[in-house]
Amino acid sequence: MKAEPLGSSKAIGLLLTAFSFCVVLSNPSKGAEADLFDWSARELALIQSLSLSQLLPPPSSPSNKYADDPEAAALGRAIFHDSRFSANGEVSCATCHRQDYGFTDDLPKGLGIGLASRRTMPIVGMAYQKWFFWDGRADSLWSQTLGPLENPVEHGIDRHQVQQLVLAHYSQPYQQVFEDDATNQPVDQVFANTGKALAAHVRTLLPEKTRFDLYAHALQSDSKETGILTEAETRGLRLFVGKAKCINCHNGPMFTNGEFHHSGTPDDGEPDPGRGTAFLELEATEFGFFGKWSDADPEADGDHIRFLDRDTRKYVGTFKTPTLRGASDRPPYMHNGTFTSLAQVLNNYRAVSGSTLADEVSHGDLTDRDLNDLEAFLGTLSSNSNDVHN
Ligand code: HEC
Ligand code: HEC
Repeated sequence: MKAEPLGSSKAIGLLLTAFSFCVVLSNPSKGAEADLFDWSARELALIQSLSLSQLLPPPSSPSNKYADDPEAAALGRAIFHDSRFSANGEVSCATCHRQDYGFTDDLPKGLGIGLASRRTMPIVGMAYQKWFFWDGRADSLWSQTLGPLENPVEHGIDRHQVQQLVLAHYSQPYQQVFEDDATNQPVDQVFANTGKALAAHVRTLLPEKTRFDLYAHALQSDSKETGILTEAETRGLRLFVGKAKCINCHNGPMFTNGEFHHSGTPDDGEPDPGRGTAFLELEATEFGFFGKWSDADPEADGDHIRFLDRDTRKYVGTFKTPTLRGASDRPPYMHNGTFTSLAQVLNNYRAVSGSTLADEVSHGDLTDRDLNDLEAFLGTLSSNSNDVHN
């Protein structure tokens, strides 16, 4: 008899616990400040999906058999920094892709021998990408690296000069990696191999841990961690994975799906067709994934090309989703460098929502505070953001 009342009060206690648990679950992010640090199971899973701890080792690069050869990477690294590979002896890859600036530069348009038509892209985490350039006109990393060498406004040289420069300055390491003297090989083969060495180096550029990653890690043991992100940053993160839907495109540990979208960036002159014209260039090159100099097995590799959606009209005016890691440290933004601050990027997302320019973004419901909070959150994705500002 004595056990009964005890039992029923226990049952009531359990019921109450279950009830309050349900209240928390059904009201995960209604905005009450008291709930700020309470994450739902879904939010927790999305946060983990963005964490660097989820970044797998880089996938293989079947079209470049030297991709993971350390000697090829060392050769590529030397050429990456060598300004003799340019028409005026002053431009190297590192001129535009500056290590001290997140491997991009602070200009609206890349500046080499002349002015490029788009902004220099940050090149961290390239090993995880399938398409390269803002319009994805290169289908493999080594094929991409050959573009700037022969581009008259970037390095401004040609493949014959590349062969001469390799022979003059890198004859021995070249022979070591490619098991043949660059004099014995056709100029196109030396050119392709130079690209493969450059790609082997670029593949080694990987993101650094940020305050966001520390937070994601801490959440695994304490789902209410409060010491690493400020309140504004926490609200921004909740918006990013929820109401603001940023995660639809900026997803995975690199904060990009690697795909092409209309995001409503205003033109700063002639409209840029973006992905719309890239398919033609893809077909035209013999340095592509299925080209003459590729190491890929045409039967087994290259699904990204085989199953490519080539609907040109659909892709006019779309650009590759950039990574957001480190973004707060390296303005300007977008393919044409048209915005000088993150606040401008975010304001534009809200302003263009629903317009035909930006049929894929719907951020019209974001308040001013939401935009500030999102900007605060983006700041946690920079590796030098390790001070806690609470
Ligand atoms: C004059 C400045 C400049 C130089 C020099 C330069 N780049 Fe770039 N890089 C850019 C610009 C601008 C883009 C975007 C171009 C576009 O989309 O049309 C880009 C894009 C890239 C990308 C694509 C990134 C992505 O996410 O798709 C990679 C990789 C890259 N460059 C590597 C290199 C390498 C390797 C070199 C040296 C061989 C080099 N770049 C030289 C300005 C430069
Ligand atoms: C439909 C896909 C999509 C969605 C949703 C989206 N983005 Fe983007 N984002 C892009 C694309 C594509 C670009 C590049 C556009 C360009 O170059 O013109 C971009 C660029 C950016 C940039 C500039 C980065 C740089 O290096 O230039 C920032 C910052 C950014 N987005 C943040 C956000 C935030 C925050 C949200 C949520 C409010 C969001 N994005 C939602 C696709 C998207």
